[in-house]
Amino acid sequence: KSLTIGLIPADGIGREVIPAAKDAITAVRSELPELKFVELLAGWETFTRTGTALPSETVQTLKENCDCALFGSVSSPSRKVAGYSSPIVALRKELDLYANIRPVISVRDTSGRDSAPAPSVDLIVVRENTECLYVKQEDLIQTENGKEARATRLITERASSRIGKIAFELAKARPRKLVTIIHKSNVLSVTDGLFRETVRAVPGLSNGKYDDVTIEEQLVDSAVYRLFREPQIFDVMVAPNLYGDIISDAAAALVGSLGVIPSINAGDSFVMGEPVHGSAPDIAGKGIANPVASIRSAALMLRHMGYASPADKIDKAVNDTLAPGKLLTPDLGGKASTTEVTTHIMSLIDAQ
Ligand code: NAI
Ligand code: MG
Repeated sequence: KSLTIGLIPADGIGREVIPAAKDAITAVRSELPELKFVELLAGWETFTRTGTALPSETVQTLKENCDCALFGSVSSPSRKVAGYSSPIVALRKELDLYANIRPVISVRDTSGRDSAPAPSVDLIVVRENTECLYVKQEDLIQTENGKEARATRLITERASSRIGKIAFELAKARPRKLVTIIHKSNVLSVTDGLFRETVRAVPGLSNGKYDDVTIEEQLVDSAVYRLFREPQIFDVMVAPNLYGDIISDAAAALVGSLGVIPSINAGDSFVMGEPVHGSAPDIAGKGIANPVASIRSAALMLRHMGYASPADKIDKAVNDTLAPGKLLTPDLGGKASTTEVTTHIMSLIDAQ
C-alpha cells in the first residue's frame, strides 16, 4: 500500500511553504504507507504560460493517481481577465470537496508584549462549500425604477446533512464535544430553517453515535459579536457557505498571523490541505514566509484520513517550536527564515 500526495504549490509563497509541508510529512513517514509525491501545476503563472489556470492533466492526476493533495496559494488578479478563473474554486467542485474545515488556535504570545492575556481560542469553523449564495445564479434586470439584481440562495437537505455529519464527527473527537449551528432562521426561515433543522437532525439519524455531543445554535450576527468578545464559548461552528466564509476569516483575525492558520477541503473520497493565506506577493521570494499554516494543513489532512498519530507528532512539533517564541518568522515578530523554522520542526519530529 502507498500514499500518493499531489503537491500544487501554485504561486508566490505557495512555492516556499508547500515544500515545507512536504518535509514535515516526510519526517513522519515511518508511520505512513510508502509515500509518493506528485508535483502538479495550477495558478496564475501557469495561466500566463499555458492559457489555463488549471490544466486538465492536474485534475486527472489528482482523480486517478492521488489519495490527497496539498494546495499552496494562487495570485488571482483583482481585475477580470478573459479566460482566467480561480483553480481552487474549480478544484473544490471537480473533486466534490464539500466541507471547508478551518481550526483556529491561538499562538501563545510569549514575547511579553501583551500584558493582558488574550482569551485563548481553540475552535473549528466548518463551512459548507458548495451551495448557498455561491451557486452564483445572479440576474440583473432593468426596471422602470432602475436596475434590479437578484441572487439565488440554494440550501439542500443533502448538503446540510453531510456538512452536519462532518461537524458532529469533529466535535465528537474533541474534549468539549460542542456543535454550534450558525444561521439566521429568524429572518430566512425557509433556507436557514432547512439548514438548521437538517443539521439538528443528524444525531437522530446516527444510531446514538453523537449522543455525547451538545448542540447549540447562534444567529450569525450575534455569533460574530460573541466570537470577538468570548471566543472560548465556541468549539465546532457549522455554517452555510457565506456565513462560514465570513466567520472563518473573522476567527482567523483572533489569532494574529494568517501564516499559522491551516484548512482542509474535504469530500467523501478526497481531501486537500490548503493554508488559509494567499500568495503574499509582498514577501514572496524572500524566504521568510511562515511555513506553519502549510505544515498544519498537512497534519490536518493526515488526521482527516485517519493518520492521527503522525498528525499529532507534526502538531506537537509545531507547537513546541512556536511556544518558546524564539524561532519565529517576521509575521510573528521574529527573524527566522522559512527554512530555519521548518528544519527545527523536523528535528523536533525526529526527537519524538
Ligand atoms: P495574503 O494572504 O497573500 O497576504 C496578506 C498579508 O499576510 C500579507 O502582508 C502577507 O505578507 C501576509 N502573509 C500571508 N501569509 C503569510 C505567511 N505564510 N507568512 C508570513 N506572512 C504571510 O492576501 P492578499 O495580499 O490579500 O492576497 C495576495 C494574493 O493572494 C492575491 O492575488 C489573492 O487573490 C491571493 N489569495 C489567494 C488565496 C488562495 O490561494 N486560497 C487566498 C487569499 C488570497
Ligand atoms: Mg475567504
